[in-house]
Amino acid sequence: MKIFLDTADLDEIRRAADAGLIDGITTNPSLMAKALGDGDPREHFQKICDLVDGPISAEVVALDAEGMVTQGRELAALHENIVVKLPITEDGLRACRTLTGEGIDTNLTLCFSTAQALLAAKAGATFVSPFVGRLDDVGHDGMEIIGEIREVYETYGYETEILAASLRHPRHVLEAMLAGADAATLPSSVLYQLLRHPLTDSGLARFMEDWKGLGKDL
Ligand code: E4P
Repeated sequence: MKIFLDTADLDEIRRAADAGLIDGITTNPSLMAKALGDGDPREHFQKICDLVDGPISAEVVALDAEGMVTQGRELAALHENIVVKLPITEDGLRACRTLTGEGIDTNLTLCFSTAQALLAAKAGATFVSPFVGRLDDVGHDGMEIIGEIREVYETYGYETEILAASLRHPRHVLEAMLAGADAATLPSSVLYQLLRHPLTDSGLARFMEDWKGLGKDL
C-alpha cells in the first residue's frame, strides 16, 4: 500500500522524503494557499517534484472542462510525476477523459460516494480520492465506501487506484488498508502517529539502560 503525504509544506515533505517514509504527495488548493505565501504555484509544484520521486497530485482551479484541460496540460508539462487532480463534477469527468486520452495521469478528488468512484473509473482516472474523514464529519461511515469501491472495481475490472483521503488518525489508515485501498494520503501528524508506539519508546529506554550497565562501547 502506498503512503502519500497530504501537504504542500516543503519542510514537512523534505523530512518525510529524507526518512523514506512516503511514496508521493497530494496537494489541494487549500494546502497550497497555506504553504505558498507570495511564491509561484508552478515553481512550488516543481520544488515538490524535486524532493519526492513519486506521484505528485497538483489540482486545477478552473471549473469548466476546457479550463481544466488547459491547466492540466500545463501542470503535467512541469514534471513527469505530476498527477492532475480534478474534482468529480461533470466538467471534471470530461476533462479526465481528455487528459487520460493524452496519457496524462489524473486523480479524481472530492469523492463522497461509490457511484462517483464508478464514474471516475469509467472516465479513465488513474486515482480516485474518497474523503473518509469528511464523510465521518457529517455522520456517515466514511470507511464503508472504500470497501464498496474496492468491490465494484474488482467486479468490473477497473484499474483506477483507490487513494483513501481525508484520513484523520492511525485507525483510519489501518481500516483503509484492510478495506483494500491502494494508497492512503495522510497529514504529517498522522504519519508520525503511525510510527510511534509507547512500547517501542519504553523498550528502547530499557535496552539503553541495560547496555549502559555493561559499561562498554560497541
Ligand atoms: C486529499 O487529496 C485531500 O487533500 C485531503 O485528504 C483532504 O483532507 P481534509 O478533509 O483533512 O482536508
